[in-house]
Amino acid sequence: MKTAIYPGSFDPVTLGHLDIIQRACKVFDELVVAVLVNPEKHTAFSIEERLAFLKRATAEIGIQNISFVGFEGLLADYAHRCGIHIIVKGLRALSDFEYEFQMALTNRKLNPDLETMFFTTSAENMYLSSSMVKQIAGFDGDISNFVPECILSDLKKRLYTGGRLG
Ligand code: PNS
Repeated sequence: MKTAIYPGSFDPVTLGHLDIIQRACKVFDELVVAVLVNPEKHTAFSIEERLAFLKRATAEIGIQNISFVGFEGLLADYAHRCGIHIIVKGLRALSDFEYEFQMALTNRKLNPDLETMFFTTSAENMYLSSSMVKQIAGFDGDISNFVPECILSDLKKRLYTGGRLG
């Protein structure tokens, strides 16, 4: 059985993440989606909230060979403990490459059994990022083209300012 792990901040999950999840679930028998702490990012949602959004969005499109985990710690250690040898990452543009390359090499140094496999994003999601979604929502803009519909109202409740900014 081939299991892969798809790590990220998912703050919040976007249609770009969902696209990678759907495609990776066709390639692997089981996909573990890992909501992890990225020390370089301040997040808008707790790990529990981000997990709940991911579970709702993937259940809605009927994905079954998927499981979820959230924790603060090293991905390489977790993969080793679980006997997982493949990390799935999405690549949007050349600008992602250097950071992802560095992470892939570091993870393999920490755990030599770990390979990173990159899925190129679909063209319509090339520009999409969670940070962009939060920025647009922070100015009460329309994020409905960027995130799963089933989490839209929860995101708006948290991120929309209702004109409080002026
Ligand atoms: O969606 P992001 O923020 O680009 O994902 C980055 C993430 C969470 C995958 C990365 O920060 C991570 O793996 N964090 C867990 C801690 C860890 O293993 N750090 C070493 C990675 S080289």
